[in-house]
Amino acid sequence: MSSPPIVTTVTDLRRALEPLRKDGVALVPTMGALHDGHLSLVAAAKQRTPNVAVSIFVNPTQFAPHEDFYSYPRTLESDREKLAGANTTLIFAPAAREMYPDGFATTVCVKGPANGLETDFRPHFFDGVATIVAKLLIAAKPDWAMFGEKDYQQLLVIRRLARDLDLGVEIVAVPIAREEDGLAMSSRNAYLSPSERKIAGQLNAVMREVIARLQRGTGIVEAEAFGAAAIKDTGFDTVDYVALRDAQTLDPITAMGKPARLLVAARICKTRLIDNMAV
Ligand code: PAF
Repeated sequence: MSSPPIVTTVTDLRRALEPLRKDGVALVPTMGALHDGHLSLVAAAKQRTPNVAVSIFVNPTQFAPHEDFYSYPRTLESDREKLAGANTTLIFAPAAREMYPDGFATTVCVKGPANGLETDFRPHFFDGVATIVAKLLIAAKPDWAMFGEKDYQQLLVIRRLARDLDLGVEIVAVPIAREEDGLAMSSRNAYLSPSERKIAGQLNAVMREVIARLQRGTGIVEAEAFGAAAIKDTGFDTVDYVALRDAQTLDPITAMGKPARLLVAARICKTRLIDNMAV
C-alpha cells in the first residue's frame, strides 16, 4: 500500500490525470478528516475506475465568519494513510491561495434545490460549495464525481450545477454511512463530548419514528412537529428543521405518494448535525 502522491496545484493535477483518462477518472471531493463515509465514496469510485483522485480542501467560502472554519479538523497525514489503504491514485490538496488567488471575484450561485432548508440557516453555504465544486470539477474534469447522500441538499445542488453548466460529469450519490447506533458519519461528530454523542445517536431513531407515523397516516405538519419536539426531548438544544420534501426538487409536499425525503438539522451545544432518510 504505497502512499498516494499529493499534488497541490491545478496544473499538476491536470498533468497527473492526463495519462489516466482512457480508463476514466473519478473525483471524490472532501474537506479531509476522513472517516468510513468518505472511504465508501472512494470504494464506490473504485467500482467505476482504477483512477480515483481525492481532493482535500477545507473551503473557506462555505463557512460564515462565526462558523468552525479555523477549528475544522485538519488531519492530512492520517487521511493519506487511510487513502493509501483504499488504493487512491492521488490526493489534490491545494492551499487556499491556489483555489482563491488574489482578486478572486467569481461566485457560482445555484437556485432551485438550494432554496430553503440549509440556506435558511447558512445563507452563505451553497454559494461557497457550488463555487469550489465547480472549480474542482473544471480542474479535474472527472468522468464521475462522488457525493454522499448525508448532505442530501448539497447533492441535489451539485447535480443541478453539473447539468446547468454542462460539466460533462456523472454525479454519483453514495448512501449514508452510519455508526452502529445509526448516527450518520460526519467529520463534525468529532466535536461531540461522550454525553453529546449519546444524544446524537438518538436522532435517527426519532426520524424513523416520524416516517413510521407518516406511513400510518399522520399528517405531514403534525409528523414534522412531533419530530422537532422529540429531537428536543432527547437533549438537542435547538432544532433548525424537520421537513418532509419532494425527493427530487426539495419542494414542500402536502400529500404522501411521490418519493419524499425527511431532512433534519439540529444542534447540540455548538455542534450542528444534519441527517436525512428516504420516505
Ligand atoms: O461535503 C463536503 O465535504 C464539502 O461541502 C465539499 C463538497 C467537499 C465542498 O467543499
